[in-house]
Amino acid sequence: MDALAEHTTSEHSTAGLAPGRPPSWWQTGILYQIYPRSFQDSNGDGIGDLAGILRRLPHLVELGVDALWLSPIFPSPMADFGYDISDYTGIDPIFGSLDDFDALLRAAHAHGLKVLLDLVPNHTSDRHPWFEESRSSRDNPKRDWYIWHDPAPDGGPPTNWLSEFGGSAWEFDPATGQYYYHAFLKAQPDLNWRNPAVREAVHDVMRFWLKRGVDGFRVDVIWHLIKDDAFRDNPPNPDWQPGRPPVESVVPLYTTDRPEVHDVIAGMRRVVEEFDERVLIGEIYLPIERLVAYYGTDLSGAHLPFNFALLNAPWDARRIAQLVEEYEASLPSGGWPNWVLGNHDRPRVGSRIGREQLRVAAMLLLTLRGTPTIYYGEEIGMVDVAIPPDRVRDPYEKNVPGIGVGRDGCRTPMQWERGESAGFTEAEPWLPTAADSEIENVENQRDDAGSLFNLYRRLIALRRRRPALTRGSYEPIAASGDLLVYVRSLDADRVMVALNLGAEPVSLTVRGAVSNGRILVSSSADRDGEEVVGEIYLRSHEGAIVGLDPAP
Ligand code: NOJ
Repeated sequence: MDALAEHTTSEHSTAGLAPGRPPSWWQTGILYQIYPRSFQDSNGDGIGDLAGILRRLPHLVELGVDALWLSPIFPSPMADFGYDISDYTGIDPIFGSLDDFDALLRAAHAHGLKVLLDLVPNHTSDRHPWFEESRSSRDNPKRDWYIWHDPAPDGGPPTNWLSEFGGSAWEFDPATGQYYYHAFLKAQPDLNWRNPAVREAVHDVMRFWLKRGVDGFRVDVIWHLIKDDAFRDNPPNPDWQPGRPPVESVVPLYTTDRPEVHDVIAGMRRVVEEFDERVLIGEIYLPIERLVAYYGTDLSGAHLPFNFALLNAPWDARRIAQLVEEYEASLPSGGWPNWVLGNHDRPRVGSRIGREQLRVAAMLLLTLRGTPTIYYGEEIGMVDVAIPPDRVRDPYEKNVPGIGVGRDGCRTPMQWERGESAGFTEAEPWLPTAADSEIENVENQRDDAGSLFNLYRRLIALRRRRPALTRGSYEPIAASGDLLVYVRSLDADRVMVALNLGAEPVSLTVRGAVSNGRILVSSSADRDGEEVVGEIYLRSHEGAIVGLDPAP
């Protein structure tokens, strides 16, 4: 396929950066998500832990990332693997102790790595003392810390609100004759964020960790925090089909993305602002036009509302170019962008788009404008592992089996080395290790100059060297067929990114200011340094980053 791109405009906006002030670390940096159960076991129980993460810090340093975000490590009955917290200010013994956490934090900081924790304020475990008090009687002082409601006149649930994990979101409590609301498992009752005492209590939890030195939080389901106080039924979703998750059979109009949530988030932001250089990231699954509201009025909300647009996007050049442009155009003034390819709730990127596109995906993630987040294992191309029925652990898959919602496949042990359990554990791992871990592992890829791991390293190093990539503007050049081309520039530093999202070779004739340069990083390493004059040619599934000559 041939395409022609005439370069006429030149856009030099560096939106989101405060003029005259150096950018914050979370703007120029790269985040790396660790799912602690699956990163490295150090005590032979088949489950990853903090000492294991500490041992593997050199990997993150070698990769070149700036910050690690740990999925929950707090005491938990593990009904939802740590997203059901029974003590916000402790460490679950499975993962270690507070001393282990402090040691990890110190070591990470000594390596120049920031550490972010997962804050789960929407719900606690039903075994959290707050809920145990709340459910103990209707007049307990903590009754109103959770969302209790009388039964409907027929004795059934008060509304038609559905749990994300299947069934009604209301659970009847016979002892006190009322229902409580749980957006997820019934073992995860939702806190009542309309109650100022709840806000204060969670703010104190945040301060506890911020004072200990953590660099910020990724806030779980932040768009869920406030529910309709008139308890109106959600409307049915006319587009829902059997085989889709049952929760999607209603539109969550009254249970998520309520207007009052922004005040709650601004309150959290103020707590983060009591400390220097900390970051607040929000987990939000919403269309772009709703998502960007989470920067808050005058940027009083999350620093980074996670942008998950690429998690569902069809792997199509035009669609991706459109969504990048829609996102760029929707950002509020001063709002800093970010990009995500995978996390612990969604199929891994290689399973969605095919392994042969992983290099192109890496180039996209690390060259778009904004903060990238890498999900552990993405850097070696880990794909979802098929989980035999008797090894399913995810409560979502157990509650809603057989429609492909299970999340175990993207949470399997990190593949470090050749040999049993890929160096993750000496015991039986809590989830199966990938069958190909003998080949696809860090040890093998480290020694192979052309590996995906070394491509990630080269891309990250390039990003650091070229201000255009960390702070420059984004300018679309071409999106046709399988070809996606854009330019990032900051002052005289100009870099063109050309990606072939398909199996057929493509070429692009370029004119004007983007016509000449030299390949800085090519996806298969063998074209680095090659000169580009007026035309760029890409092989099957190939990408290239071209350092452009100064404009004439
Ligand atoms: C979002 C988390 O990412 C997911 O893993 C969890 O199950 C739900 N929130 C409930 O906390």
